Amino acid sequence: MSSTIPGAPSKLTPIYTPRHPSAEESPSTQSLIAALNLQPHIEGGYFAEIDRNPLVIPNPFLPQENEGDAGDDDDAVRNASTSIYYLLSRGAPQGCFHRNKGRTVHTVIEGRGRYVLIHADEEGEKKRVESFVVGRDFERGEKSVWVVEGGKFKGSYLIGGERLLVSETVVPGFEYADHDFLTRDGLERLVKEEQVEELEWLVRR
Ligand code: GUN
Repeated sequence: MSSTIPGAPSKLTPIYTPRHPSAEESPSTQSLIAALNLQPHIEGGYFAEIDRNPLVIPNPFLPQENEGDAGDDDDAVRNASTSIYYLLSRGAPQGCFHRNKGRTVHTVIEGRGRYVLIHADEEGEKKRVESFVVGRDFERGEKSVWVVEGGKFKGSYLIGGERLLVSETVVPGFEYADHDFLTRDGLERLVKEEQVEELEWLVRR
């Protein structure tokens, strides 16, 4: 069935889903999770923070009028960057739609997956949706390094193989205060009706 989303050759559907994971984690994935000390991520998948830049900068996301009077409130500053490993696996095969205020640079380390972006920060009543495959088959047009600007909702899922391992560097550094999930209502507000059907399984429940 054809997709309503540019970049997707056929309708976006999960191969593996959290409710029907196709398998327990394989021994090699279990061993990778242990070796990298990965923890379950609330977005789905697993992660480990591997760097938090000790350079501290003023929080660029504060409204201008609050600058200066934020005192020693933690929200007044951010680490200049943070980096994580992020893993999608057979047992945890999808990252649900969420958004960060900071921009994120992603690099594939191993495997293949599909990313879906909802450009919520752009003009227009209904927002542009974009999808692409990440991996290391460059001749097939897979992206191995890509940037997601702040303000866009991002979802991801495993499209075959054992796992997808990426690194993500967020600038400025990650804080939950700069992070939110997309809700079903939010999805309905942001995208066209036919796209809601195609994307709702990537909304966190
Ligand atoms: N803690 C929970 N989620 C994240 C994340 O996505 N990045 C970082 N750096 N820390 C986190």
